[in-house]
Amino acid sequence: MATRALLRVSDLSLAEQDAVLDAAAWYLPRVEAGRVKWSHLRGVSTLLMFYEASTRTRVSFELAGKLLGSDTINVSAKGSSVEKGESIADTAETLAAMGFGIVVVRHGGADAVALFARHFTGAVLNAGAGRGAHPTQALLDALTLRRAGVLARGKRLAIVGDILHSRVMHSNLELLTARGLEVLLIAPPSLMPPAWREGPVMPGVRWEPDFDRALPGLDAVMMLRMQRERMEGGLLPGLEEYAALYGLNAPRLKRLPPAAVVLHPGPVNRGVEVSEEVYLDPRCRINNQVTCGVAVRAALLCWAAGRPLIPEGSEA
Ligand code: CP
Repeated sequence: MATRALLRVSDLSLAEQDAVLDAAAWYLPRVEAGRVKWSHLRGVSTLLMFYEASTRTRVSFELAGKLLGSDTINVSAKGSSVEKGESIADTAETLAAMGFGIVVVRHGGADAVALFARHFTGAVLNAGAGRGAHPTQALLDALTLRRAGVLARGKRLAIVGDILHSRVMHSNLELLTARGLEVLLIAPPSLMPPAWREGPVMPGVRWEPDFDRALPGLDAVMMLRMQRERMEGGLLPGLEEYAALYGLNAPRLKRLPPAAVVLHPGPVNRGVEVSEEVYLDPRCRINNQVTCGVAVRAALLCWAAGRPLIPEGSEA
């Protein structure tokens, strides 16, 4: 059993989430300035075990680990003994036997990271599990929203697009509803979970199929990637029609309030979820989210190692 496991956002109390966000806010300007290096996690070995593709999550964990002085090793399922049929449980026990203190796991199955944590003796961080949860993404989104003044009770945020397949949506719902934000889920019926089409999804969350109607009342809009790799076909009439109804584009930017912010977890299908104009708009925070990701993951690696979240006095 893992000593510490972040499988979903609610594995951290609100106070612990705030401590992670405060620490990440400390890291952020130092990461942005570059040339930072600490010895805070010296002696802690971190393994990144990715059964699914990733750029942002994998690289930001690796960068954060290296900035903190952790020995950081990358493994992808392709080329590992997973290809020979090794089970998740055996992989976890094998890595524990090598003395890794922290394993960061991404997997296509919603329960796979929890299974890994049951068989690993160090700390486990969920880097995205199937359609289930992506807690570190929700925390970096929270930092991005906090910096924009939107992470506050009564603010209204829309999550737009492929709700049906989105682990990012699940983790954001957990985090945002616990803080009293109102969330609109904006999607065609075919991309909403069937049970959520009937009435209120949960307190503070409702389905709104009309993006244009919602836009003027939003403080933030989070566009989701179309997860075509998880679609079995027939869910969409066509990407052009989807983009016309649910894509964020120049006419819709005009309807969005001037103080609102635009997020997307990436990777982005440009021209589908967002048009080129979005990247040129000062309200766009997509690249800022990526930088926040390094800072949040630095704080989370310290949490996983059981060390203070900020390496005060340990500049290498
Ligand atoms: N947002 C996100 O998880 O991106 P990657 O798949 O590139 O890690």
